[in-house]
Amino acid sequence: EESKKIKLIDDPALPAAIKSKINKLISLRDNRVRVFGWVHHVRDQRGIIFIDLRDGTGFLQCVLSGDVAKTYEALTLTIETSVELVGTLQVVPEGKSAPGGHELSVDYWRVIGAAPGGEDAFTNRFNEKSDPSILADLRHLVIRGEKASSVLRLRAMLLSAFRASYARNNILEVNTPCIVQTQVEGGATLFGLNYYGQNAYLTQSSQLYLETCLPALGDVYTVQESFRAENSHTRRHLAEYTHMEAELAFITFDELMTHIENIICETVDTLMQDPVSAALIQELNPGFKAPSRPFKRMSYVDAIAWLSEHKIQHEAEDAEGNVIKDEAGNPRMVDHVLGDDIAEAAERQMTDIIGLPIFLHSFPAELKAFYMKKIPDQDSGAGLLLTESCDLLMPGVGEIVGGSMRIADYEELFEAYKREKMDPSPYFWFTDQRKYGTCEHGGYGLGVERFLAWLANRYTIRECSLYPRWPGRATP
Ligand code: 4AD
Repeated sequence: EESKKIKLIDDPALPAAIKSKINKLISLRDNRVRVFGWVHHVRDQRGIIFIDLRDGTGFLQCVLSGDVAKTYEALTLTIETSVELVGTLQVVPEGKSAPGGHELSVDYWRVIGAAPGGEDAFTNRFNEKSDPSILADLRHLVIRGEKASSVLRLRAMLLSAFRASYARNNILEVNTPCIVQTQVEGGATLFGLNYYGQNAYLTQSSQLYLETCLPALGDVYTVQESFRAENSHTRRHLAEYTHMEAELAFITFDELMTHIENIICETVDTLMQDPVSAALIQELNPGFKAPSRPFKRMSYVDAIAWLSEHKIQHEAEDAEGNVIKDEAGNPRMVDHVLGDDIAEAAERQMTDIIGLPIFLHSFPAELKAFYMKKIPDQDSGAGLLLTESCDLLMPGVGEIVGGSMRIADYEELFEAYKREKMDPSPYFWFTDQRKYGTCEHGGYGLGVERFLAWLANRYTIRECSLYPRWPGRATP
């Protein structure tokens, strides 16, 4: 009852408060400051209320005592309420700890938007043990959590570190279209759409556009969403993912792999040198160590031999690609032989046993996309036509990068269209690159969510996307 009578005022007789974000407070110690944010935690200790305030830049401990702790709003304060708090910023007493090493001694505060208590309270909506489908439906609330927001914050720093690495290496950022009329990685995973009565697709990869930039702008990269209509419910497939792709002119296959290694290692170094990102990595993936260079390289032919030596088998399939099952209904397992695709399960086992980044390279043309350059003068003894292609595999995740040298020769490209039964006409602009001053070139695509899952040790890449999409899910 007494609480209803207390009315707080932002006392004009006190020094004017300086408005600040939480991460900029250190230089404002002993000043009167004004902060805005959300109540992350709140606890009442014998009439003193402690609020952990969150504003997106960090956390701040705020202490309410005396009249400011006795108002109706104070006594009914719930987490996720948005508030304005004004007070003096003080170093925490010896022996105590708080984020940033200081706390706000509040002399005035107000509720901006109260969050409900009771049945509808934030804490009643979900918890760590909630069903994954509930967590997916409530992703807009889950991202307020410490882990989820740390992953997203690291993601932002990761992209900015990659951009810095590209800038240092003289590689220019371009922005490619999402609405396209050509496929890159096979028709099976295209999302089609009606484009003013014409057929169009959501892009699978910006690669072909990047190739057209080489004579115009030199080496280029892009960070763009890619879309894959894959019916894969695995922990490393999304229907929409952020694709970082680069294309480099006048390089060799060996230079391409060295470049990928350098960009990744420089970016990891940048992140480890910045105390903010280093702390995020430490929080999410304690004990993380930057990989050492050079990365292990293993050819496809050697990988098949390695898999059979290590008794890592795959499910047998019939001519239509259906898994062959035994009488008990279990899939029949068979050894890997030359010509087999190295599927996700085998790839993962191999990377986890070796425990290091691995470049798998020189895959057979029939397993790869139409645009890949064949290894020159190869002895196709095994009956395989091998390509200058590489996948970078990381422990815990598997493939995070796919790259290759591209067909530079006009005639060879037409043969590839023919082999893949592709109509060359929509590709006229891509073909023109081989007509007007062709060059040896190559590039790659890196799955940003997969890279982040490796760096932050996340079980699924769904945690590494703000609003992940997978078969059946496009909400929120
Ligand atoms: O190996 P991919 O399909 O290669 C390309 O698209 C090339 N055109 C890239 C290029 O050379 N410019 O995809 C490249 C990377 C993969 O290594 C993987 O990290 C990621 O993109 N990726 C996916 N990430 C999440 N969900 C999916 N469904 C993905 N498909 C590919």
